[in-house]
This record gives sequence, structure tokens and C-alpha cells, in this order.
Amino acid sequence: MVERQWWQEEVVYQIYPKSFSDSNGDGIGDLKGITERLDYLKDLGITMVWICPIYQSPMDDNGYDISDYKRIAPEYGTMEDLEELVEEAGKRKIKIMLDLVINHTSDEHPWFKEALRDADSPHHEDYIFKKGSRRPNNWRSVFGGSVWEKVPGREEYYLHSFGKKQPDLNWENAGLREKLYEMIDWWLEKGIAGFRIDAITFIKKDLTWRDREADGADGLAQCTKGCRNQPGIGVFLQEMKERTFDRYPCVTVAEAPGVPYEELGEYIGEKGYFSMIFDFRYADLDIASGSGWSKRVPWTIKDLRDKIMASQMALQKWGWSANFIENHDQPRATTKYLRESQQEPEAVKTLAAMYFFLRGLPFIYQGQELGMVNAKRDSIQEFNDISSIDQYERSLAEGCTPEEALHYVNLRSRDNARVPFPWEDGQYGGFTTGKPWIAMAEEYPAVNAKAQVGVEGSIHTFYKEMIYFRQKGPYRECLLYGRIQPIESSADVIAYRRYTDKESICCWSNFSGQTVREPVPKGHTEPVWQSYGKAVLQGESLELGPYQSVLLKQQEIRIKKPVAFSPQTPYNLP
Ligand code: GLC
Ligand code: CA
Repeated sequence: MVERQWWQEEVVYQIYPKSFSDSNGDGIGDLKGITERLDYLKDLGITMVWICPIYQSPMDDNGYDISDYKRIAPEYGTMEDLEELVEEAGKRKIKIMLDLVINHTSDEHPWFKEALRDADSPHHEDYIFKKGSRRPNNWRSVFGGSVWEKVPGREEYYLHSFGKKQPDLNWENAGLREKLYEMIDWWLEKGIAGFRIDAITFIKKDLTWRDREADGADGLAQCTKGCRNQPGIGVFLQEMKERTFDRYPCVTVAEAPGVPYEELGEYIGEKGYFSMIFDFRYADLDIASGSGWSKRVPWTIKDLRDKIMASQMALQKWGWSANFIENHDQPRATTKYLRESQQEPEAVKTLAAMYFFLRGLPFIYQGQELGMVNAKRDSIQEFNDISSIDQYERSLAEGCTPEEALHYVNLRSRDNARVPFPWEDGQYGGFTTGKPWIAMAEEYPAVNAKAQVGVEGSIHTFYKEMIYFRQKGPYRECLLYGRIQPIESSADVIAYRRYTDKESICCWSNFSGQTVREPVPKGHTEPVWQSYGKAVLQGESLELGPYQSVLLKQQEIRIKKPVAFSPQTPYNLP
């Protein structure tokens, strides 16, 4: 049986530092701003914070382009500010997790500058260069255009899986790997709780560099085919884990899109490379996998349920999951998952309850706890996100009209989540006393923290109560550690059972504006929680009001053979 780990009980809050809180009026969020808001986070009940990159960077991709791994971006503050934040958070029993970006650096990192300056420099081996007078292959970068960029003044190209200003590091070089491990240890020694690890499934490339079949109007092929989840990646991940993470009591959550479910054991099993990974299959259910934002896919609540449950069952087989409905790369969950009911507070709550009681760590992205919705922009000039601009151009090239292209970008843009956090209804929502680096969401005079904190029935209060119920309520053991199993339900309802060998709790969330009736598994007759009103039970059926979530507990234990908790236990048990 796998031992329990400290991080299994956390509730994580994700902060996009540029947009959370500005302490000095320059319009850019910063570390002191986060420290000033710790009491807000403490009050919400979260136990760990993940902060997106805060390192020195030209900010072409808002910090995911690092030019010095051991320095804090001056616009965010100083190393002392970070130490103060870790300390102040610690006093409130909040742990700090940082972002680890090691697939690439900025092109302004001294290693890369040296490699460009002198092809014979040892730093040339830190990146991926190919000699020649034409691009080595037809791979398309994640942010558009070829992955190859010409080196000025030389017959040579360098590879970037993401933006041009984000050259990929050469993980085949053992010396480079050593430098990264040393840097990781240096940060862990500072007392941070661990890392969210960026784009880690990109570190191994297909070294044949062969062309792939074109899959877009540009004649290129998505680089994920040769740059992501390539055979042999495990050797690097295993080495990194042994050399760094294994030596600290830290937590690691890998951004690992594309890991096949059959390989999850290697990633998150007992001896896996990471504590957890993010599974994006249900986050991307509205667009065709591997293609642009204009390739919209119609979907139903049943599709969402099937994807979430498949993910939960696959992850449960091996280890722990990291559950999220929003992050800094995704549109707002309200707009994406609730569509026309995005502004119905009860619908927002049912969505929250549905993912919150799944098995694994809940991640809450800043503003999600206020029920923020997507921001609508009228022109492509209003976007900051490099990916939005590329997707707009790609949609035009694929034959969309400018209106259509803008519509798709509005639906999917990463800027939706990157607007400043609305603290109150005053100018710029109390985010800054200056002018924010990016426009506020339109609805901030109504949707802001001040209007919701301590207010009965608000989405913020709902989150707070739900966190408390999960973390400290009477069914904590079952809701934290219980196994999960889907329950058959009608089309607009997502339902599952959480159970240990002693207890069983069934959770239903109704995503329709109609009252629905659901059959209840034997013995589950005691309501323990509902998102509003009361649970109405009639014989063996449960009546769910419009957008209502209800949790029922089993009165008697009916599991004949108690099943010990173990990630290795197959999931189709009684
Ligand atoms: C990850 C980050 C994203 C970034 C990209 C390149 O997907 O979440 O924000 O742009 O990696 O670092
Ligand atoms: Ca600032």
C-alpha cells in the first residue's frame, strides 16, 4: 500500500502575478502585492499557492521566457520580496509552489546569447542548432510558424517549440542537464514547497528530425508529433527526479499534455517521475485536438462527464490527480462549460461542486472563486497573448472571415484569464493605483471580491464553504481519500460516488435549468450537503432542482469485502 503524502490534502490557488495585485502603482502586479493579499487567501481556506513564473524575463510570453533562473523579474520585486512572501505565507500555513520552465529559456538568456555569438562556444551545445541554408523540416511551433529560426549571419537554424524568443534547451547534453538540476536544488533549498513544471513532455525530440504529413493551410505539421512525448523521454525525467525532487519533501505537478493513459504509471505511479500531472483531455473538449481554435467541436454535458470520468479512473489506477477547470492558458470555465448559463450563479456553483469533490487536489485559478466570465474584445489589437494573435492569423489563413476569426479568439484567448483581479468596484478594481497593463474585465464593477466576501449566497462564499466542508467537515476522510466511481445519470447530470471501506458518498450536479429525477444507489438516503435549498428524496429517487448539486451519504455499509486504499487496486470494484 502506498503511503499517504502530505500534499494529498492541499487546495491550491493559482496566481498569475502580473494580474493579481499591484503594490506600487506601475500597473503590473507584483510579489509585495501578493503578500498584501495573503489574508484574503487564508480566509478563502486554500493551503498552497502556485505562482506563474516570477523570474527575470523580457516577458514576451509573460515570464515563460526566462533570461535568468536565479533572479526575480524587477517588475515583480526582489529576492527579499519573495523570501518575505514565503515567510508570511508560512505564518498563515500557506505553502508556495513556483513554476519551473526548463524546456526552453528566453533568447535573451546569457547561454543563448553566447551560443549565437560564437558557434564554437560550449553554450552552443545548450540549445538545438542545425546547420544548413534551409529549414531542417516542416514542423510548426505551438505559437505558429516554423519551429526553426535562422541565426543571423550564419547558415544555421535554432529550434523553438513555442515562440521565436523561446529557444528549446538541448536535453541530450548532460552538462546542460547538470546546470538545470543545480538550479532546481538551489530553489528547493530556499524552502519552497515544490514546482508546477511547464511543458515538460517537450524535452525529448525525435532525433531523426524527419518531415511529418502537413496538417494545415501553411503546409506545416504540428511539432507535437516530433517534439512531445517522444520515446526515451523517461530517461531524462527519471534522472531529474533522482537528482533533484527525490532529495526533498517537495510536490511536483507536471504540465504533461499528451501522456497516454497506459503510460500514467511511469508518470504518477508509486515510483513515478512526478507527484501529479494535469490531464487536459476535458479542458480541451471544445476544440479538435492538435488543431487551431477555429476547429470548434460541438459537445454535450454527457461528453464532459465521459471525459472527466475516464480521466479520473485512469489517474486513480496509478496515483493522485490535479483537478482544474481554469488556468492562465484557458478561457474562463463559466463561459466554456456553462455557455448561455455562464451568469447563473447556481450554475457556476454546480460546476464548482462537480469538479471540487472529484478525487485529487482541486486547483482554483484567480477570479474563478468570483465566477468571472470571458472578456469580449472587439479587435485583435486589444490582445496581448502571442498565441491569440497567431490563432487569429491562422484562422484567416484557413478561410475564416475576420469576424469569425475574432469570435474564435474571444472564445479561447488566454487573455480571458489574464485580466487584472477585481478587488473592488473602484477605479481599476483596486488592482492598481496606476493604469493596468491589460484592460480589466467589463463586469468588474459588479463582479469583484469586495462585493462577494462575507456575502451570503455569493460564489466566493460558496467556494469558502465548499473548501471548509471538504477539508474540515465530517466526511473529510471520504472526500479526500475515497476512491471514485461514476454513477449512471440522465444527460445533463454528472454523478459519481466517493467511497472508502467505511463510508460512501454520492455526488450529483445538475447542469440543466430543469428539475430532474435521478435513481439513487441502494442505501444512499442521508443528504449531507447541497449547493442550495434542500435535497428532495422520494423513495429511491432524488429530485434535483435547476443547477443543483447534492451529496448523499450511505446509511449502512454494504461493501462486503473491505477494500484497502491503494493506487494499484483496479477501479471496477464493488
Ligand atoms: C505552458 C504555459 C504557457 C506557456 C507555454 C510555453 O503551456 O502554461 O503559458 O506559454 O508553456 O512556456
Ligand atoms: Ca507593480
